Amino acid sequence: AKARAAGAAGAAGAAGAAGAAGAAAGSVAKTEAQEPVVLRSAASRALFSVIRAEGTAPAEFSEHSDRLFGLLVEETLATLPGVVPKTVRTPCGDYDGLAPLPAKDVAVVSIMRAGDGLAEAFRRVLRGVAVGRILIQRDEASVDKRAKLYYSKLPKDIASKKAVVLADPMLATGGSLVRAVGVLLAAGVREDRIVVVNVVSAPEGLATLRRAHPDLRIVTGAVDAKLNEQRYIVPGLGDFGDRYYGTV
Ligand code: PRP
Ligand code: URA
Repeated sequence: AKARAAGAAGAAGAAGAAGAAGAAAGSVAKTEAQEPVVLRSAASRALFSVIRAEGTAPAEFSEHSDRLFGLLVEETLATLPGVVPKTVRTPCGDYDGLAPLPAKDVAVVSIMRAGDGLAEAFRRVLRGVAVGRILIQRDEASVDKRAKLYYSKLPKDIASKKAVVLADPMLATGGSLVRAVGVLLAAGVREDRIVVVNVVSAPEGLATLRRAHPDLRIVTGAVDAKLNEQRYIVPGLGDFGDRYYGTV
């Protein structure tokens, strides 16, 4: 299905919908972390300019998405619950930094299929991290695009991880992510240890997710203007999975 902009809204102005989200980047305080962390660099804007463009071919789309995933991965790893401040000695003085979590303390779970590329980006950086998969798909035939759960396979010790990353590129109505968070909670994961990571969020989906699960953290590449009648994100980028995997 192809998303059509119902209006001429751009992404940049819409980012304000999430509040002063960017200020939370790098923060480790719980209260601030509950505001979404939004990428705001020139690098993310340049990459978005390629993947959002209607004419971008699948090969170029997936290459630039993978590069954008790299930015999201680093921002997320610095935002995980359990990350604490750490001062390191440089050859010339002290630097106030952060202590990242080792791979053994983290699990990465993707919502298939579009979340799989994002999960791989985490695996490239966090070598040996435990990975789980949840298959949820929007029922495009239903009016409210209800999310259906088909399958899940999670690491056995997921409830004892200090942080669980839940990867899915698009947060539209929020139905898929609310369903996936329910699967994690049922497996014993604490809500305040879940970090949702995605490429583009709609304000509607963010509100739904935060209402249902106020204690989880969100890292997103952009907060767009709204959903259209087909519940696609505007301006968005269309169907992420179809464009990334070339099934348009
Ligand atoms: C897309 C996307 C999300 C979901 C978001 O998946 O990857 O999982 O839609 O929509 P929502 O917030 O309204 O639930 P889709 O069901 O199209 O499957 P795909 O990964 O196979 O493309
Ligand atoms: N899924 C997508 O891939 N894109 C949207 O805009 C909404 C749901």
